[in-house]
Formats: sequence, C-alpha cells, structure tokens
Amino acid sequence: MKKDSPLPQNTRARRATDCVRRTGEGARASTNSPRDGARRATRDPRLSNQQPTPKSQRPGFSTRAIHDGQEPEPLTGSVGVPIYATSTYVQDELGKPRQGYEYARVTNPTRDRLEKNLASLEGGVAARVFASGMAAINAICTMYKSGDHVVCGHNLYGGVPRLFNQVLTGYAFQFTYVDTSEAKNVERAIQKNTRMVYVETPTNPLMALSDIAAIAEICRRKKVKLVVDNTFMSPFFQQPIALGADMVVHSTTKFLNGHSDGLGGVVVCTRQEQAEQLGFVQKAAGAILSPFECWLVLRGVKTLAVRMLQHDSNGRRVADFLASHNKVKSVFYPGLKDHPQYELACRQMTGFGSMITFETGSLANAARLLKRVRVCTLGESLGGVETLISHPATMTHAALGEKGRAAIGITDGMVRISVGIEDVDDIIADLNQALG
Ligand SMILES: Cc1ncc(COP(=O)(O)O)c(C=O)c1O
Repeated sequence: MKKDSPLPQNTRARRATDCVRRTGEGARASTNSPRDGARRATRDPRLSNQQPTPKSQRPGFSTRAIHDGQEPEPLTGSVGVPIYATSTYVQDELGKPRQGYEYARVTNPTRDRLEKNLASLEGGVAARVFASGMAAINAICTMYKSGDHVVCGHNLYGGVPRLFNQVLTGYAFQFTYVDTSEAKNVERAIQKNTRMVYVETPTNPLMALSDIAAIAEICRRKKVKLVVDNTFMSPFFQQPIALGADMVVHSTTKFLNGHSDGLGGVVVCTRQEQAEQLGFVQKAAGAILSPFECWLVLRGVKTLAVRMLQHDSNGRRVADFLASHNKVKSVFYPGLKDHPQYELACRQMTGFGSMITFETGSLANAARLLKRVRVCTLGESLGGVETLISHPATMTHAALGEKGRAAIGITDGMVRISVGIEDVDDIIADLNQALG
C-alpha cells in the first residue's frame, strides 16, 4: 500500500485488503472533430469549451467534483447552481435565442452544468444526461441501427437484457451474451456486423470483473465501440475512458446522486460526434433529466469522493465479517483475496467499493435474513448513503427467469448488499443478528 493512500489497512488473510487508490484521472487524448465543434458552437451552448484539460493541468477529483460545472451563477453570484425551472426562453428577436437557449427539452442551464461536471469526472469530452440509467442505455442503442450486432456481458443488470431482448430485438438489433470476464470470449463473439461491446464491471450481482483495457484493445483492433457501465464503481474508483472505453454509462440514481432521492442516467462521450448524436436523441426522443433531478446529482456529486471512501471502508469491513460468518457459504467481493480477479481489481480499480453479494444457502435463509434486518433497508437500488439489501433472484434479476439465472450462477439463496455509510459496527451488528 502506498504511504499516502487514504484507504484503511487490513491485515487478516482472506480479508478485503487494500488496493492502492491511484488518482485514476487519465483522460485519453481528445478525438474531437474540429468540423463538428465549429458547426455547433454557436447553436448549442453545451458544445463550447469541451476539450478535456490535459491531465497534468487538471485539479484533483474532489476539486473538479465541487467546481466543474458548479461555478457561481454570474447574475447574482449564487454559489449553488440554480434550478432553471422553465420550459422555454425569451427570444430577443426572431431567430435570436439568448445564448442558444430555445426550449428546455433541447437545452437547460442546470442540465448543462451537470453534463459538464460528469464529463470532467469521467475524463470525457462531453456528457448527456437522461431520465434514468435505462433511458441512457436506450439512447446509446439508438446510435445504432437495425441489423447491427452487440456483444454484451452475460451478467448485466437485469433491466438491460430486458431492454435488449424484449424491446430492441423487435427492431432487428442482434445481441450475443458472453462471459466478458474472459476478454477472449469478446473477441470470439465479434462478427462482421458487430458495432458495440457493452460491458458492466463489476457485474451485478456476481461481482465478476472484466478487463477494460484488454477488451478496449480488442475493440480498437476490430473497430467496434466499447461502452462500459461504471455505475458500481463511480468515476472515483474506476476510469473506463482512461482504460480505452469509447463511452461510459451510469445510472446516476446510484452513487453519483448517492442519496436515493432521484432517478437519472448519463452517457459520457469521448468524441464530439457522439455528444451531438446523443444531444439529438435528447431533443428528438425527449427522455431528458429534469432540472431538479440534475440539481440533485450536482449536489450529491460534490461529496462523491468522501462518500466513496467511506462506502469502500465499510464495504471491506462488512465483506470481512461475512467471509468469517459460519452461516455465510460464500462472499462475492473483489476486495477479498480469494476473489478470482483480485489482482485485476487492484490493477483496474482504485478501491473495491461497497457492493457485496453473499450466499445464504437457500431461499428460506435469504427470506429469513431479509425479514430480520433493521439497519439495512430491504429494497431495490444501490449506491445510497443508507445500506440497501436485496434479493437478486426475485428483485433485480427476476426478469431473467429461473433458467437464465441458473445459467449465470444466480441462486435463490443470494443476497446483495449495497453497504452504506452508517457506522459500520451498526451494519455488522444488524447483519449478525439477522443471520443468527
Ligand atoms: C449497473 C446498472 N446499470 C443501469 C441500471 C439502470 O438504471 P436506472 O434504474 O436508473 O434506470 C441499474 C439499475 O439498477 C444498474 O444497477
């Protein structure tokens, strides 16, 4: 462990040991199209000043979280970003909207601020926010067309295969699901019409990792775009763009917002054309994030770094506790040394986060535990300050069906926990009494 690492140290064997928190801020060189920038700069206020600052000149993560896009409002000096609750904007003359603002489905200043902030945190050139994580993922898919083929992880958040299989196949999209924890499986599945590889890492709920850099190298060679869902780690612990991803998607509902009080989704882009295309999807399809929800994320993200450090610290302690409990059959957490990809976790992530899945042995055991918890809140979702506990087989992954779940190893006895930032001893005591 580096001397200056803010992470707590663990010593016991099979413990959630520390991996060094590097600054993880490398953004790869901009691939903006100058033509697009010039064409749009006067019309779309979001497309000005979108070159990422070179890493060497950039302030640190927390400084950017608090200041990028969060500058005081020029008219009054309001330190908090205002919520621009308007559907339209006055035009001074015909065809002369002020600073490009015409109609709120197309642009809204609060939304612009959030998009600037999230692009900065992920090291992208621009970001586009949507009404939910699923709306963001759907927006990415609209960048492709019928007949296009997508290679994706076989253990994604259950809503994603539901969108792919039950909606998009109806528009002749084709999907192949593979175990992306082996990069060679991705390469094998790529065909002539493959346009996108879609990866979630760590996976939900099995916490398997995919090697983003290795998959990005395959995608570059095969001229296929790589999209990474970074919801579980947040940009604080994992920087997919620096590792070669073309786009990053989040459910901002989770760690970015962090307070379980709003839905949202974001796509962070590495190219101006992607941002243009997605901006057009916002305007054309309209699944944009409301100014109030944007403000909630802007507020939440200011404390992202400190929250993630506490989530991670609590996550390690809870994983250690579960791993040593005689009623827990197995624990899935990348910070445990016996996680099969522990070494990759240390290389690719700068913390292990707070998402843990554990095996109780049966549906009855899981149900009993979930009925008895008091501090942990039984509910779907994750990434809030409160510890959320859920049952993948009947909740997030119910749509996969029994066979689908069995095929990827999700059992009825599995319980997933999103460890919050309460006092960790209280979380552990609660789980102990519930397991007891
Ligand atoms: C990893 C991941 N991606 C995407 C989503 C979808 O996000 P939302 O619920 O905001 O639509 C979820 C939801 O749980 C998720 O866990």
